[in-house]
Amino acid sequence: MSVAALFEPFACKSLRSANRIAMASMARWATPRGDPAPLADFYRRRAEGGTGLIFTEGAIIDRPAAGNDPDSLRLFGEALANWPAVIAAVHDAGGAIVPQLWHCGATAKPGSRWRSPAPFESPSGLQAPGMARGEALTEAALDDILAAFVAAAEAARRLGFDGVEIHAGHGYLLDQFFWALTNLRSDAWGGPTLAERSRFPLAVVKAVRAAVGPDFALLLRISQWKSADLAARLVASPQELEAWLSPFVEAGVDVFNISQLRWDQPEFDGSPLSLAGWVKRTTGRPTIVAGGVGVSGDFISAFGGLTGEPEPLDGVARALDAGEFDMVAVGRGVLADADWAQRVRDGATRSPCPPAKLLAGVAN
Ligand SMILES: Cc1cc2nc3c(=O)[nH]c(=O)nc-3n(C[C@H](O)[C@H](O)[C@H](O)COP(=O)(O)O)c2cc1C
Repeated sequence: MSVAALFEPFACKSLRSANRIAMASMARWATPRGDPAPLADFYRRRAEGGTGLIFTEGAIIDRPAAGNDPDSLRLFGEALANWPAVIAAVHDAGGAIVPQLWHCGATAKPGSRWRSPAPFESPSGLQAPGMARGEALTEAALDDILAAFVAAAEAARRLGFDGVEIHAGHGYLLDQFFWALTNLRSDAWGGPTLAERSRFPLAVVKAVRAAVGPDFALLLRISQWKSADLAARLVASPQELEAWLSPFVEAGVDVFNISQLRWDQPEFDGSPLSLAGWVKRTTGRPTIVAGGVGVSGDFISAFGGLTGEPEPLDGVARALDAGEFDMVAVGRGVLADADWAQRVRDGATRSPCPPAKLLAGVAN
């Protein structure tokens, strides 16, 4: 088996990764009041362990109800002071680092009963189809959210991150706009078509692109699945996919980060190609794939207490080599083992560490 394809460099504008292995964003809520300081050592160890690109866990933007926990990581306010040390820790270890900008919408943290001091906010006041939670967003609130995304992206550039990612998947705020069952609006931000429901996420992408300039790598994370419905689908064919994402390409997305439950799951009937493969083919943009790279099962089952077992990496390396996608994002593997990438490079034929400690606040 050859995993050589995983160790080719990747570059896109400001973003340069020594290899094709990224650590997927993983919210751990181990940052008191959103202060990133405790992450410096955690991310440094993963960069030292050979991970080329670190995606920060979801970092919330400056809106009272953006988070789903008092300790959600922040990219605004007092938290900004401690980001330079985190970025330097990763850069000094040879890694690249990109923050993931996050607004949870009305979607709760798994298993949490915490209620935000401000009402949860979402397109139509729903956390899931038919399940009311918080308030529907007003025009003024939408303006403020857009400004908060822009401010966080500007901060990302100013602080020295290697790019910026907008989280528009998993049933969080921007994905709640996409999904017909959580976006029931009849104003300019809703409508029967996905193109109409994409207008607010698109406005965010355009505003962020305008703010960070043309050369700063802008990534968009999307998924078909939602935490409220793992079988949910926004698009059912390559044509629908292209119609959905072309405006995002024009708006300035450089890289699509595709979250699948399994990286090798075929997306549309009649083809083995994954969603990441289809997005690359239909948009012409590089893609990153996540979902069970080197580990069995999916991370949702892990929240239910099931741990994954190591799996061979030859299949994913072959697909990467064939150009189906451009990078892999590894979640549970790199969380459980800081040296995951190094060990793979040194010839481990399987990912070495079953992520048994997944939800135990791994600190190594
Ligand atoms: C503990 C945990 C927290 C996560 N938090 C986030 C997050 O903040 N943002 C995000 O986009 N995905 C999040 N994810 C999903 C991961 O980025 C990744 O897509 C998923 O774990 C699949 O990769 P894996 O099978 O290699 O674990 C999280 C996953 C886990 C296990």
